[in-house]
Amino acid sequence: MAAIFSPAANLAAKLGLIGAAGLVLGGMSWWWLWPRTDYVRHNSWFVEQPVPFSHQHHVAGLGIDCRFCHTTVETAGDAGMPPTYTCMTCHSQVWTNAAMLAPVRESLANNTPIPWRRVTDLPDYVYFNHKIHIAKGVGCESCHGTMQDMPLSQKARSLTMGFCLNCHRDPAPNLRPPEAIYDTDWQRTPDTPSPAALAQQYHVGGRTLTDCSICHR
Ligand code: HEC
Ligand code: HEC
Ligand code: HEC
Ligand code: HEC
Ligand code: HEC
Repeated sequence: MAAIFSPAANLAAKLGLIGAAGLVLGGMSWWWLWPRTDYVRHNSWFVEQPVPFSHQHHVAGLGIDCRFCHTTVETAGDAGMPPTYTCMTCHSQVWTNAAMLAPVRESLANNTPIPWRRVTDLPDYVYFNHKIHIAKGVGCESCHGTMQDMPLSQKARSLTMGFCLNCHRDPAPNLRPPEAIYDTDWQRTPDTPSPAALAQQYHVGGRTLTDCSICHR
């Protein structure tokens, strides 16, 4: 009996199948991966600001503490942004005529805040609070990366739900001694209290941190 399908047709059918499978896989990974890429989530993007403020110069270079500018990070949900007069405590004396700082001088003269653009921004349906994280031994670096290395601020962590839950499932290994909260270069050393000891010290672990109502209230 003569073959109904020639070997060539067979090959074409196989190629067709592979092609179809490829399309399905490609489509699926596009649908699944694309929203998770750094590009879409704006990770590792420098954000253009009205004034090219550099954490690298001010934090690593001049040694200014985070709390000098983000004054409410220990006491409120919001970390707070520095009012213009905070900049002017120095810039009324250094770099007074720099063109780069014109928006700062205008802001002070007109009594209008500098319109900083957001780098990290959660959707409104998520509840977040700085105070509790700082009080319980979570360092800025866990969520913001090494700010002191950034000439312009960028979002260093995804801040997705998965990111939050990853720590909330087992916070202990991420806790730091109180003196290391603002130290973005901090590393665990043999002298650091164990994760379990830190969890006990901060009274962490008493409640389920993965309940939806913790973050969606
Ligand atoms: C001299 C003032 C100053 C100091 C000190 C400072 N910051 Fe900032 N910070 C700013 C200003 C101004 C902005 C807004 C411009 C920008 O995004 O870079 C900012 C923005 C940020 C943002 C992005 C906020 C957003 O839009 O979501 C984070 C996160 C941040 N700072 C963390 C830190 C941490 C952590 C430290 C300490 C290691 C620190 N800052 C020290 C002034 C300061
Ligand atoms: C404690 C003093 C101090 C404070 C507070 C301060 N600055 Fe500065 N700033 C400096 C010094 C000193 C330099 C020069 C740094 C250098 O050249 O290394 C500088 C440089 C700059 C520059 C030039 C670019 C650069 O980073 O070298 C900009 C822009 C700037 N500051 C913006 C700001 C803004 C905006 C604020 C308020 C959020 C602020 N500064 C608060 C001391 C300060
Ligand atoms: C557990 C994660 C986490 C830690 C730890 C953390 N932050 Fe944040 N930070 C965030 C998130 C999430 C946002 C965005 C909040 C929003 O959009 O409502 C944010 C926003 C900010 C902002 C913008 C202003 C604001 O409050 O929305 C600044 C400034 C900031 N953080 C500074 C700091 C500093 C300084 C520290 C350390 C003392 C710190 N953060 C520790 C997660 C964290
Ligand atoms: C590196 C660890 C870590 C990360 C990342 C983290 N958290 Fe937390 N979170 C904690 C710890 C520790 C506590 C305090 C637990 C306790 O009190 O027992 C906490 C508590 C909370 C609370 C409870 C506040 C209250 O007053 O009841 C909320 C809400 C919260 N986190 C939201 C978030 C959100 C949203 C994110 C992601 C943007 C996030 N957290 C990321 C460690 C983390
Ligand atoms: C530790 C904090 C935290 C907890 C606990 C949490 N979420 Fe979320 N959730 C988030 C954050 C942050 C986002 C925003 C993510 C983003 O920016 O894309 C989010 C987003 C969502 C979204 C929007 C769709 C999406 O995936 O972006 C849904 C739906 C959701 N959460 C449902 C839940 C449910 C159901 C639970 C309980 C099983 C839960 N969440 C527990 C932090 C949390």
